[in-house]
Amino acid sequence: MTALTPTNPTEIVQNLSDYEARFAAIQQQGLKLDMTRGKPSSEQLDLANPLSVALSVDDYKAADGTDARNYGGLDGLPEMKAIFAELLETTPANLVIGGASSLTLMHDAVVRALLHGVPDGDGPWSRSKIKFLCPSPGYDRHFSICQHHGIEMVTVELDGSGPDMATVENLVASDASIKGMWCVPKYSNPTGVTYSAEVVERLAAMKTAAADFRLFWDNAYAVHDLFDTTEPLLEVIAACAKAGNPNRAIVLASTSKISFAGAGVAALAASPANIADAKKHLAIQTIGPDKLNQLRHVRFFKNFAGLTAHMKKHAALLRPKFETVTRIFERELGGTGLASWTKPRGGYFVSLDTLDGCATEIIKLADEAGVKLTPAGATFPYGKDPRNRNIRIAPSLPPASQVETAMEVVSLCVLLASARKLQG
Ligand SMILES: Cc1ncc(COP(=O)(O)O)c(C=O)c1O
Repeated sequence: MTALTPTNPTEIVQNLSDYEARFAAIQQQGLKLDMTRGKPSSEQLDLANPLSVALSVDDYKAADGTDARNYGGLDGLPEMKAIFAELLETTPANLVIGGASSLTLMHDAVVRALLHGVPDGDGPWSRSKIKFLCPSPGYDRHFSICQHHGIEMVTVELDGSGPDMATVENLVASDASIKGMWCVPKYSNPTGVTYSAEVVERLAAMKTAAADFRLFWDNAYAVHDLFDTTEPLLEVIAACAKAGNPNRAIVLASTSKISFAGAGVAALAASPANIADAKKHLAIQTIGPDKLNQLRHVRFFKNFAGLTAHMKKHAALLRPKFETVTRIFERELGGTGLASWTKPRGGYFVSLDTLDGCATEIIKLADEAGVKLTPAGATFPYGKDPRNRNIRIAPSLPPASQVETAMEVVSLCVLLASARKLQG
């Protein structure tokens, strides 16, 4: 992506003393606002409070007679699988239901591959140095998994329709040590991008030097629309099968941002061979997941239609906050050429790009003014944004009025840091 160009640098520099004065005045206010992590607000969590009483004392049997209080049921309850099958547009046979966290499932899938390899591979990935492609800006915890386990990360640009596919295709075709790629294919964290059908088809069909290459398809925001329409995403397991690479995709999702964050239900979807392999390992790890949690989710949502109706209530709470971010940025920074920002149709984040080299300074200034932002570089492998310009904005947690104040502060910090930089 090309660098931003200030529309009127002379005027911005002339305004420097005004920005400094406004900044000093804000510092006096003693603000304490936190825009760091994409957590649901307490109002959003309240929406799922009936979960706590969704099971009565004698309600513990699943539709197939399984006693949810007892061990077993490694796959998960059939009715929970039915809901995730619709959510991920796949079949229940392609699913295994996990515990509360999809991050755990993806972490463990990577570790299993490192220790044991994958079905169509030639042994443990850890036998040699391996790499993952990391479309960026991306999700910092994906990058932490790689860093923690010594997997080298290769940054790939992410544009409006997905990763830069020409680069991806070249890299995977020529380097057999590239075993995996992180993808947040819908309402991506943090840019809000949904991969186009063409991108999904190319990812599914591309020739990879590693026969056991995997797409780690983190569909965390599959049903997290902010507006009445959804951005369609081609189903990747079927796309891979159609392209002759049936085992390529490992799909992850959870209800963390549907019911309760960290106390929801997570799922892994993949080809029958991948699912059989995952279950072989999971059977060593656990005697079975928390089926009572699954059952209360099933009782609460009833079915996928119930879940999507619930998501509309989340959207009603989230949408005004996202609209506030856009309104303030447009009012304060529109036309300046000092920043560009995404206007996502779903998900949890807005991605703000500034002049090259300014992100660290803007985040530092915002902190001094009482607004905490995600650290600069967090959205890139190794915490290093090569152009030091990307800032992740997470508007979900604070009330809308605080989002407004925080965005006014961030906008001022963009103006101030840019003016100082342009002055030289
Ligand atoms: C892209 C993405 N994947 C996974 C997660 C975490 O999911 P879970 O709560 O299911 O572990 C998040 C949370 O912010 C996320 O943004």
